[in-house]
Amino acid sequence: MSLDGKCAFITGAASGIGQGVAVRTAARGAHVVCADIQDASVTVKMIQEAGGSAEPVLIDVSSAQDWTEAVSAVVGRTGRLDLLANVAGITPGASGSAGDTVLNLDEATWSRVLDINLKSVWLGMKAVIPHMREAGVGRIVNTSSISALRGMPGMAAYAASKGGIQALTQQAAAEYAADGILVNAIAPGMILTPVKLSNVDIFQEVAAEKHLVPRLGEATEVGDVVVFLFDEATFMTGQVLPVDGGWTARG
Ligand SMILES: NC(=O)c1ccc[n+]([C@@H]2O[C@H](COP(=O)([O-])OP(=O)(O)OC[C@H]3O[C@@H](n4cnc5c(N)ncnc54)[C@H](O)[C@@H]3O)[C@@H](O)[C@H]2O)c1
Repeated sequence: MSLDGKCAFITGAASGIGQGVAVRTAARGAHVVCADIQDASVTVKMIQEAGGSAEPVLIDVSSAQDWTEAVSAVVGRTGRLDLLANVAGITPGASGSAGDTVLNLDEATWSRVLDINLKSVWLGMKAVIPHMREAGVGRIVNTSSISALRGMPGMAAYAASKGGIQALTQQAAAEYAADGILVNAIAPGMILTPVKLSNVDIFQEVAAEKHLVPRLGEATEVGDVVVFLFDEATFMTGQVLPVDGGWTARG
């Protein structure tokens, strides 16, 4: 398998898209560090039962100290860190005028969303890039959202965090390409994750209306695109790939 012998650090791996990315990365042969603020043992078990290699790691991605400790422990154990997917994130608030509009948003929510969704991506890259630099190779995939590409009322802090990820991705790509490190981002549309299960019919309906592929996406379909960026996309860096069933292509 083409990622045989590589070590991948995947945040948000206990649930949803992060779990899909972890499963698909392990299926290509990489050892996957399933990092999350909650126990990621379920994902580790899924990977091991399919014959892959994985371990859970507890981390708060908004903490610089957690990043330093987690990454040095992994490099100490495995001797390497080749791949990073920053997937962990939160989506607080409701959509529409009752949600986190520019006027409704409070300062505490702004800071929390920006810390967990955006600062975390900077901290993650800051922790892993020195190891990738030393090895002369590395791949990083950050998780933005189509809400950074289209205005969606009620998501001001979330959209700002996801827009920041796009800029930071381009910045890191420009700074470390010469070291053999490629940095890209994905921008998912509406993906079926546990939070949507309680209202799955409504989400399916909205997805069918917004996406050209008229359904919710699957977490593993996003995982397939991340694996493409990890494994195959050798002449791509600083890009944002929508994985949105064609939402942003819609007229
Ligand atoms: N599901 C979608 O439709 C969709 C669309 C666009 C973008 N995204 C993005 O994809 C990513 C994953 O979303 P999801 O839908 O799979 O959500 P999810 O809630 O299923 O998974 C998010 C994971 O991140 C973890 N997490 C949250 N805060 C953390 C912290 N401080 N430290 C470490 N881990 C933390 C959670 O424990 C959880 O396991 C997020 O960045 C989200 O913004 C999701």
